[in-house]
Amino acid sequence: MKSLEIMKKRQSIRQFSKELISKEHLNLILEAAYNAPIGRAAYDQYKLYVLNEKDKLNKLSTMLIEKAQLTKHPFFEGTLVIFIAGIKTEERLNGCDTGCIIENMMLVASELNIGSCFLYRISQTINNNKELKSFFNLEENYQIMSAVTFGHPLEKNLPLKIRPGIKTKYL
Ligand SMILES: Cc1cc2nc3c(=O)[nH]c(=O)nc-3n(C[C@H](O)[C@H](O)[C@H](O)COP(=O)(O)O)c2cc1C
Repeated sequence: MKSLEIMKKRQSIRQFSKELISKEHLNLILEAAYNAPIGRAAYDQYKLYVLNEKDKLNKLSTMLIEKAQLTKHPFFEGTLVIFIAGIKTEERLNGCDTGCIIENMMLVASELNIGSCFLYRISQTINNNKELKSFFNLEENYQIMSAVTFGHPLEKNLPLKIRPGIKTKYL
């Protein structure tokens, strides 16, 4: 499948089956992350935290639901969640790098028929809560940048999304 077709196929999935993601597919998703472009090639300023054990996913989701008083499941019951942590900087590079890492992972997942959804909001909840932050054992100079939830989509063969495009000007 060509890259543009995979991009068009990818869409945020928020309902997953209980089927687990294989180790082989997890490794491909991680390889995609490792091959993302990073500003100034600062790969050593980021860390990925992989959560795919049921007990740990349950523990963190319960904590998040409690602390953030969420009405929806924080990971939409995905069976794999990958958090991206990075060293805090004043620049906007952090967010750009994180976006590149996440999009790479989501595109490979899409090619493998694995659903995914970008999770930004919960990263703010984690960073603002000592107890949640301690779950990751994060060093003081690191913060959670964002996360992605993955799983096998409950609904198969979803129609492609019609996207509105982005205002484009030729200068
Ligand atoms: C930077 C960023 C942050 C996002 N944060 C969240 C989030 O916290 N929760 C969520 O359900 N979706 C989140 N999304 C998913 C967007 O809502 C989704 O990508 C958008 O509605 C377009 O839909 P699509 O992904 O199906 O194309 C985020 C997406 C991006 C790019």
